Amino acid sequence: MIPLTLAEIAAITGGSVPPGAGLVTGPVVVDSRRVTQGALFAALPGEHADGHDFAQAAVAAGAAGVLASRPVPGVPAIVVPDVTAALGVLARAVLGRLPAAIVTGITGSSGKTSTKDLTAQLAERLGPTVAPEGSFNNEIGLPLTVLRAAESTRFLVLEMSARGIGHIAALCDIAPPRIGAVLNVGRAHAGEFGSLDAVAKAKGELPEALPAGGVAVLNAGDPRVLAMAARTAARVVTFGRDGKPDVCAEDVRLDDLGRASFRLVMPDASAPVTLRLHGAHHVPNALAAAAIAAELGMDTPAIAAALSEATARSKRRMEVRERPDGVLVVNDAYNANPDSTRAAIEALGHLTSGGRRGFAVLGHMAELGDIAAESHEEAGHLAARAGVTGLIAVGEEARPVLDGARAEPGWHGAAIAVPDAPAAVDVLRNQLRPGDVVLVKASKAAGLWEVADGLLAEVSR
Ligand SMILES: Nc1ncnc2c1ncn2[C@@H]1O[C@H](COP(=O)(O)OP(=O)(O)OP(=O)(O)O)[C@@H](O)[C@H]1O
Ligand SMILES: [Mg+2]
Repeated sequence: MIPLTLAEIAAITGGSVPPGAGLVTGPVVVDSRRVTQGALFAALPGEHADGHDFAQAAVAAGAAGVLASRPVPGVPAIVVPDVTAALGVLARAVLGRLPAAIVTGITGSSGKTSTKDLTAQLAERLGPTVAPEGSFNNEIGLPLTVLRAAESTRFLVLEMSARGIGHIAALCDIAPPRIGAVLNVGRAHAGEFGSLDAVAKAKGELPEALPAGGVAVLNAGDPRVLAMAARTAARVVTFGRDGKPDVCAEDVRLDDLGRASFRLVMPDASAPVTLRLHGAHHVPNALAAAAIAAELGMDTPAIAAALSEATARSKRRMEVRERPDGVLVVNDAYNANPDSTRAAIEALGHLTSGGRRGFAVLGHMAELGDIAAESHEEAGHLAARAGVTGLIAVGEEARPVLDGARAEPGWHGAAIAVPDAPAAVDVLRNQLRPGDVVLVKASKAAGLWEVADGLLAEVSR
């Protein structure tokens, strides 16, 4: 963070000024274990603990002060009514002091983190870049990321998530983007939104927030995203595999591990790309990243080279590992919604197209509201159509997956329900043969990466 005194931070956030002449040199943290010398500790109420209980420990560990919603004895605290809101105000003020930093916002129902990670790896070639760790994409994670920016920062690549109308507009108020990319409008959080049109309304707040001199990067293959061209003052650049976009991929091929090679076609030039990420669904993500990087000033050969070297920075998204016995484990258990599940099962279908046997371990897809049962059934249909040898549903909520598969005519695989991750590992232990492929996928709450970890640990023993 740019250095600020506690008094300056109090003035920016409208909080009380603590005694002393504390100077915050950063970072701003919400976890007292991450405090370093000169940090500002923001005390947030958590699910299991109250940040205020850790304020003294934070200061003892070197924090210059605390942003809090009530005084804490013996601690230099800036007291504000709402710590989360104050983080946003502070982030906005810090950005205001960094006029040279270009903010890019990325939203969509699936692929935000993957695209953010790709885009950051391109932007880093051009200059100092700040991007969130993992999926820091909400009213807390986004300001914490912005607050990592320093005088030298040229690019901020931010992930913006929405669980409701107005959320992205609020994030754009904290960090006004010059470039905004919308990847897709899908069924993530369908329970909260109620309809795809409501999702589109929420995601469209990003192009709406862009200035006339800005750029809206829109997926031409998603009609609800393309329609956002009418909701922005910014210049529109389109990407995608369909619909004559400005940035597209020609001759897309997948290797035997599902990694895409293609010709990146930009308005002025084209160049070959081979991605290190697994699954055809990363092609549109790469195209969005390419479109953004071009706007930041990168030429096509440099974009293609950087995309080809970019790695999956965030964990548990289509992580493909081969065990010593030749079993391939695909850990996509970071999260799931109907669209990312379809993408993962399609990738499994590709990985098994050369004759390998496929197994899908699917758990609960959360937050789907009324479409929960049909979405799980659909996943079962897709797995059966992909020809899986075994389909394992983990947990009661995932059971409709098995009904979907059993209803698929001509499917003769095994459909098995298990209560939890260890039981899934037990079932697979006796089934797997060298060369088999196992996909593991569910929403975060299901914690199914334990299945992938368990399967990988089996053979290294
Ligand atoms: N364009 C895409 N279409 C469908 N699925 C995708 C796409 N990009 C990534 N995925 C898959 O979606 C899951 C989540 O990916 P990622 O973390 O990049 O998305 P996200 O939008 O950041 O998710 P979250 O909302 O949880 O932050 C992974 O399983 C990934 O393989
Ligand atoms: Mg994310």
